[in-house]
Amino acid sequence: MAIVEVKPGVHWVGAVDWNVRQFHGATYSTHRGTTYNAYFVQGSKYRALVDTVHAPFTEVLVSHLKNLGDLSKIDYVVINHVEMDHTGALPHIMELCPKAKVYCSQRAVEPLKQHFGDLGWDITPVKTGDTLDLGGKTIHFIEAPMLHWPDSMFSFIPEDKLLLPNDAFGQHLASSQRFDDEVDNAILMDEAAKYYANILLPFNALVARKIKEIVDMGIEFDTIAPSHGVIWRKDPGQIIKAYQNWSTGVETPGRVSPEVVVVFDTMWNSTEIMAEAITDELSALGYNVNLYNIGRTDYSDIIREILEAKAVVVGSPTMNNAMLPSLSSLLDALKGLRPQGKIGVAFGSHGWKGGAVPQLTSLLSEAGIKVIDPGLAIQWVPSETDIEASRDLARKLDQALKDL
Ligand SMILES: Cc1cc2nc3c(=O)[nH]c(=O)nc-3n(C[C@H](O)[C@H](O)[C@H](O)COP(=O)(O)O)c2cc1C
Ligand SMILES: [Fe+2]
Ligand SMILES: [Fe+2]
Repeated sequence: MAIVEVKPGVHWVGAVDWNVRQFHGATYSTHRGTTYNAYFVQGSKYRALVDTVHAPFTEVLVSHLKNLGDLSKIDYVVINHVEMDHTGALPHIMELCPKAKVYCSQRAVEPLKQHFGDLGWDITPVKTGDTLDLGGKTIHFIEAPMLHWPDSMFSFIPEDKLLLPNDAFGQHLASSQRFDDEVDNAILMDEAAKYYANILLPFNALVARKIKEIVDMGIEFDTIAPSHGVIWRKDPGQIIKAYQNWSTGVETPGRVSPEVVVVFDTMWNSTEIMAEAITDELSALGYNVNLYNIGRTDYSDIIREILEAKAVVVGSPTMNNAMLPSLSSLLDALKGLRPQGKIGVAFGSHGWKGGAVPQLTSLLSEAGIKVIDPGLAIQWVPSETDIEASRDLARKLDQALKDL
C-alpha cells in the first residue's frame, strides 16, 4: 500500500497485514486483518519516525521511508509503545539510521533492552509535557500508562492538530483506504468496539481519566492516527465519544446492541434446548438477545457483544463434575477483562451429580459479573417443566434487569 499524506509533512508509512486472522496468540480473531501504522514527520530541521511495524513488514516500512528521502537522515525514532507489532522493525531501522535518537517513555527504556538487547541506541526517556522540536512541528509527549502497557504513550503535534495515540482508538481493520471517511462506518465502529472490549476493557477507569486529562489540557486535534486500522479525520469526536461511552458502560450511539448475551456449549443438545427457551422468553419480553454456541463463535467476538450488553447468561452440561472446557477461555478472558455493571446467571443439564452450574456461577462472580440467582441445573433431557423453569430463569433476569 502506498504512502499517504496525513497532514502536510506527515506521512503514513506503515503496512497492511491483510491475512492475519489471530492476534495475541489465539485470543483475538482478526477477521478483517489489521495494519501496523507508522508515521514519518518531516520538520524544517529534523525528521522523526513515530513507531515502526511488525518485524515481517520491515521491508515495507523501509521502502516507504526510502520513497520519502534518505533513510539515514532520520533524526528521531519515537517509540510510543514497546509491543512488537510496533517495534519489530526497530532494530533494522536503527541499523539503517545509526545516528537516530530513540524517544520513549521512561517505562519503555528497560523493556526495549529486554526485547532487543542493549544495542547501544541513544535513548531519551520523556514524560508528559516534554517536547521534541522538529522545526515548524513539535512533538508533545503524553504518557498513557496501562493504555494498554505501562510504557504506552501518545504523541501529539499541535501544529497539525494531530494525535498519534498508538494502540488507543485503533481497530484491527485491513483496508486499501487509510481514513475513516473511506470505509464503512458500522464496520469501523464494530472493529473499534471489539478492540476496546478485548484490549482496553480492564482499564476503563484509566481510559476515562486519560480522555478527561486530554480534554482538560485543552489540546486541539482534528485527526487521530492510531497504530492499527484507519485514521480518524472525518470525525475524531466519534471515537472519543465511543471510548467515553464504553469506559462507562454505555453502548455505541446509533447501534442496536444485544441487551443479553446467551452463551452455551452442549454435547447432546439438552443445554441448547434450555438456551433456546431462555432466549425465546427474553425475546418475547422485548429484549434484544444474541445466542452463541461457544464452539461455533470465536470468544473475542462474543466479548465484543458483551461490552455493550447488560446481562450475560452462560450454560454448560456437566462433564466429569465440571463445565465443558470450551467455556473456560471465555470465562477466563472475562475474569481478566472484568466487565463492569453487568449481571449474569448460569444454567445447564447434567446426568447425575452435576457441577457445571455452580462452577459457571462462581466464574461469573470472579469476572465481576453480579449473579442474580444460583442458576438452573436440570437432569438429562429437559422436560416440559424444565423448559418452563428455563423460561422462568429468563423472567428472573428480566426482573433483575428492570431493578438495575
Ligand atoms: C463424557 C461425559 C461425562 C459426563 N460427566 C458427568 C458428570 O461428571 N456429572 C454429571 O452429572 N453428568 C455427567 N455427564 C452427563 C451429562 O451431563 C448429561 O448427559 C447432560 O444431559 C448433557 O447435556 P447436553 O445435552 O447439553 O450435552 C457426562 C456425560 C458425558 C458424555
Ligand atoms: Fe499493544
Ligand atoms: Fe498494537
